[in-house]
Amino acid sequence: MLDPRRNPPQEVYVWDPFVRIAHWALVIAVAIAYLVEAPRALHVYAGYAAAALIAARIAWGFLGTGHARFAAFVYPPRTVFRYVRDLLHLRQHERYTGHSPGGGYVILSMLGLLAATVLTGIAAHGRWLDGWETLDAWHEGLAYAALGVIGVHIAGVLLRSFVYGQNLVRAQFTGYKRP
Ligand code: HEM
Ligand code: HEM
Repeated sequence: MLDPRRNPPQEVYVWDPFVRIAHWALVIAVAIAYLVEAPRALHVYAGYAAAALIAARIAWGFLGTGHARFAAFVYPPRTVFRYVRDLLHLRQHERYTGHSPGGGYVILSMLGLLAATVLTGIAAHGRWLDGWETLDAWHEGLAYAALGVIGVHIAGVLLRSFVYGQNLVRAQFTGYKRP
């Protein structure tokens, strides 16, 4: 028998360049949109960049390949529940090469809430409707809801990295990960 500590499993290629570049570009765009209030134009341009990245990522979820496809990381609720329960008890569930069952819905929630944030931002900015002030309030509320889920995302990434002994953040740069 191979000793797994001396012979760690070979790394496998998981994240294509689009996933990696879009992820870190989205982090930068969203961070600028949150942090910059003035000049307003910078907020709006960062928001547009986030909008383009979100749209491209959603398309890639259908058209892309392998672990990037939505179909590859949406699991039945029962699997999600057990995975999260075990993770919170610092116990390993089955090992997943791509996104985990818990991560799948967190990713969909982030993409959904950020898409709604940019759409209400664009509509309020353009003052499309008479009630644009209401849209503005929605825009802000959705942005903070997204921020809450982003907090869960980062905590989940760190917890899974710890419990499963995988450096997930490094993998999001290199594309390679231990299964
Ligand atoms: C993920 C992207 C975005 C995030 C996280 C975000 C977040 C926020 C937040 C938290 C506020 C309220 C705080 C403040 O007044 O600065 C705000 C205001 C605003 N955002 Fe965004 N935003 C995003 C994208 C956009 C986009 C794409 C547009 C327009 C094209 C936009 C237009 C505006 C406008 C016009 C306001 C000011 C409303 C007012 O006058 O009070 N935002 N945004
Ligand atoms: C604005 C903040 C963030 C947003 C909106 C965000 C969004 C996302 C999205 C949409 C994915 C899915 C990637 C894909 O399949 O295309 C993802 C994955 C990932 N993110 Fe983030 N992220 C944010 C911040 C961060 C930060 C700060 C870290 C580092 C601690 C991080 C680490 C990761 C990792 C490691 C994955 C892959 C998870 C896995 O292996 O299953 N993210 N993120």
